[in-house]
Amino acid sequence: MKLIVNGQEQQVEVEDDMPLLWILRDELNITGVKYGCGISACGACTVHVNGEAMRSCQVTADSLEEGDQITTIEGLGTPPALHAVQAAWVEHQVAQCGYCQSGQIMQAAALLSETPNPSDEDIDDAMSGNLCRCGTYPRIRAAVKTAAKNMQEA
Ligand code: FES
Ligand code: FES
Repeated sequence: MKLIVNGQEQQVEVEDDMPLLWILRDELNITGVKYGCGISACGACTVHVNGEAMRSCQVTADSLEEGDQITTIEGLGTPPALHAVQAAWVEHQVAQCGYCQSGQIMQAAALLSETPNPSDEDIDDAMSGNLCRCGTYPRIRAAVKTAAKNMQEA
């Protein structure tokens, strides 16, 4: 099966029931995406599939289609050209241990592409399924607001 991962064509041959999480990590060595729970309960494995935030632990190979576009934290921005959400995360020093953060950022980026000016309620609705054991939630909310503002001004 051919997938477009972070803009690059990748040919993957895996079992039908292999989750995208492990296709990315074990087959393609893209390790920014994290395993937390494996049961869709934490959000650590969030990536974009055709622009939509999805739990990669729940997306099996046979549910993907030829040419699907997958974006991980590695493809969202680059160090010299960070995505606005990544830049806001740096500005607010959101991360503590960091383990949940790639999922948080991917979820936030998907939120802002659909809802450019989110209310507190919109942010809570979109982000509430992404758990953080370090309790970085107040900084996450502040960073989402900063990213939204900067994206609108750009
Ligand atoms: S590892 Fe996928 S939601 Fe927790
Ligand atoms: S920063 Fe440690 S789990 Fe979120």
